[in-house]
Amino acid sequence: MNNALEFRISASYGKTEVLHSVAGTIAPGEIVALAGLSGSGKSTLALALLRLLHYRGGSVTGSITVEGRELTGLSESAMRSVRGKLIGYVPQSPGTALNERLKVRTLLEETWSAHAEGAGSFGALLESVQLPGDQVFLNKRAGELSTGQGQRLLIAFGIMHKPAVLLADEPTSALDVITQAAVLKLFAELNQKNGTAMLFISHDLLSVASISHRVDILHEGKIVESGPPGKIFSAPEHPFTRSLVDAMPRRMD
Ligand SMILES: Nc1ncnc2c1ncn2[C@@H]1O[C@H](COP(=O)(O)OP(=O)(O)OP(=O)(O)O)[C@@H](O)[C@H]1O
Ligand SMILES: [Mg+2]
Repeated sequence: MNNALEFRISASYGKTEVLHSVAGTIAPGEIVALAGLSGSGKSTLALALLRLLHYRGGSVTGSITVEGRELTGLSESAMRSVRGKLIGYVPQSPGTALNERLKVRTLLEETWSAHAEGAGSFGALLESVQLPGDQVFLNKRAGELSTGQGQRLLIAFGIMHKPAVLLADEPTSALDVITQAAVLKLFAELNQKNGTAMLFISHDLLSVASISHRVDILHEGKIVESGPPGKIFSAPEHPFTRSLVDAMPRRMD
């Protein structure tokens, strides 16, 4: 059986290479967390996998396959039918990802019609990400949402077409701890219910470890360690992983 996602890529901005032959595989139904410091290249990796990095001025070499299908070399129009359907994406910041003048309803309809005919029904989808599924909410403009509501709306877009792989870039960073826990639970449920494979990107090792089967540590554009969360916490091997684990908050008593 093919892996859900398999890649080996290098990525550069101009002459500066920021990802150095980073390789990874995600099995069907597996949740892999990608943790690393700010600036280590996490968002660059997500955008490179979606073949969107050129919009940010970057370039990518290497290979990316989703369910055995090679994405490098596909035309932009072919990629449009891949994004959202084969690879779902939850971008890092709702502030820049949502057109704030548009209504929630319009944004949902646009995302829906990218891959499906007819009118979608969005109430259940919104409720699955703990947003109100009623007309009042559907008629709100994106600019009227709180950051946390915007982030949950982006998650709804990412999962709408039940993609084989979901790339989520810091999907809980703008949320309070209670909502964060609810959203993590939601990702875990989606994984169990739909078998969605996930690459869950975060600088917060502790939060991602709770739902992931494996953790990859990205440091200076390379994956320096990969293993089950228990192993990463109890016996980190790479000096950088050790410093990450040592820096985690602990009870003082
Ligand atoms: N458009 C760009 N042009 C030039 N350099 C860039 C560009 N975007 C990102 N970089 C650089 O690439 C490196 C990786 O950035 P990236 O956004 O992937 O980091 P990140 O791990 O997602 O960080 P964060 O946790 O802060 O979101 C950083 O050194 C950043 O300065
Ligand atoms: Mg980032």
